[in-house]
Amino acid sequence: MVAAVANPQQKRLTIAVEAIAEEVTTIRSLDWDRDRFDIEFGLQNGTTYNSFIIRGDKTALVDTSHAKFRELYLKTLTGEIDPKTIDYLVISHTEPDHSGLVRDVLELAPQATVVGAKVAIAFLEDLVHRPFERLIVKNGDTLELGNGHTLEFVSAPNLHWPDTIFTYDHKTGILFTCDAFGMHFCSDATYDEDLEVLSPDFRFYYECLMAPNARSVLAAMKRMDALPPVNMIATGHGPLLRYNVAELTGRYQRWSQEKTKAEDLVAVFYVSDYGYSDRLSQALARGITKTSVAVEMMDMRSADPQEVTELVNRAKGLVIGLPPASGPIANETQATLGTILAAVNGKQTVGLFESYGGNDEPIDPLANKFQDLELAAAFAPLRVKDTPSEALYQRCEEMGTDLGQALAQAGKMKKLKSLDADLEKALGRISSGLYIITAQKGERSGAMLASWVSQASFQPLGFTVAVAKDRAIESLMQVGDTFVLNVLEEGKHLPLMKHFLKRFAPGADRFAGVRTRPATNGSPILADALAYLECDVTSRMEVSDHWIVYCTVQDGKVSHPDGLTAVHHRKVGNYY
Ligand code: FEO
Repeated sequence: MVAAVANPQQKRLTIAVEAIAEEVTTIRSLDWDRDRFDIEFGLQNGTTYNSFIIRGDKTALVDTSHAKFRELYLKTLTGEIDPKTIDYLVISHTEPDHSGLVRDVLELAPQATVVGAKVAIAFLEDLVHRPFERLIVKNGDTLELGNGHTLEFVSAPNLHWPDTIFTYDHKTGILFTCDAFGMHFCSDATYDEDLEVLSPDFRFYYECLMAPNARSVLAAMKRMDALPPVNMIATGHGPLLRYNVAELTGRYQRWSQEKTKAEDLVAVFYVSDYGYSDRLSQALARGITKTSVAVEMMDMRSADPQEVTELVNRAKGLVIGLPPASGPIANETQATLGTILAAVNGKQTVGLFESYGGNDEPIDPLANKFQDLELAAAFAPLRVKDTPSEALYQRCEEMGTDLGQALAQAGKMKKLKSLDADLEKALGRISSGLYIITAQKGERSGAMLASWVSQASFQPLGFTVAVAKDRAIESLMQVGDTFVLNVLEEGKHLPLMKHFLKRFAPGADRFAGVRTRPATNGSPILADALAYLECDVTSRMEVSDHWIVYCTVQDGKVSHPDGLTAVHHRKVGNYY
């Protein structure tokens, strides 16, 4: 393995090269400090962009790297291989973190044939602005490199753009999957030895990027079943999966089956590679998937009219990122917008946002059209005029959760009523204390009234808290996050309880009018609480509709020793 640092003054960018199988080499671009919110909100552990060289009688390069690695990647690539000998450049997905250097590679290797899905090749024409040889591949197509390296392509649309293909190398049993099965995790380890360490990032990445495409995940995995055994999954981000292939693909299967069970569905339409359309839609979709409502995302640039109609017909709610009003992308998207308008019905709910593409379709006339068609507004049209901030992504996520909760509400009430009356009263005798969890993470902040809190360990000092999956603060309680547990005092707890039980608008400041001071970990301490504990999230366990979050305690104080913790006695156990 070789490693080099690009520029120590800037954020740490290094590169690692390693042979991963017979005649297969990876060039991993390691982005140690990648900004959170630059790609998937919540990102904490940097990321990697993985590229691969397969040397048969002919040579294929699978994906490139992010443009920020230009100098380092091209130097490394040309040190590994004479670019003039690259026969094929396989494009798994055209988002710039994998294809940002395609143009540069093609300048060095103009003879290379670019291999990709039909949509990917169309997207690349916009990206590369130069003629190139191309080979459009479909599911099941093969490409002979010689010396046993037969490449077979698997169509994997919507994972997470419509352009995605997987590539299977029959000689080595390696499946190259780009974003799918990846994670944003940067380390020197090439492989997935440490499953426990990687699991939270693997899950979080799935939730952000793949859960809104769960149906597409299952469809791609069904196509994978037709392949011979997969020995390794060479992902585009994070460690390559070598030791836990069955376990981690099994998780994708299980989680996606769970997501697709939902009765209600929101269709999220976005425009790939246009303004912040895909990022904003991703935040909205993430918020919806926290509820019991499913999401399906569709790119308006490449959508098939029949599929658009079918999706709109199945959806109870729609979220639409406005396409451009004119220009080349407008030609690709306006027909989709027309199809959506033709397919909606008056029982649906719709939310619109503009994505700061510079030329967004005017939002008001479109909102009026939907109103005329008797659709309810999920939220006031969201106008984004600037680069989205962390706070805006938080707001979008919370808007998505509100929409999902509103759509799910009717079904939920029915289920609560159906519990056995004696059982729910008996369960209600489980009592607990009353607490406010407060968290600050960069520009994002949140608070929640909690009662399902219980000490869980002495060494280290730790406790668990159960957080419903659709709580906004859940996003701020990932492994590695910090927060404060504020203990409410009997007799003085009602004002704080009342304040934090309010329904806050998406992105609203939960602390307006509340006396706070910052804890060492940056989260707010409530001045009127009886005691506080500064906590680190250590692990999370998924239990049906809640996450059990295990936290270790770093610091804490009681404001006056005689105070008693406020206690919550309930009549029934099927609600808080
Ligand atoms: Fe890692 Fe969707 O690009």
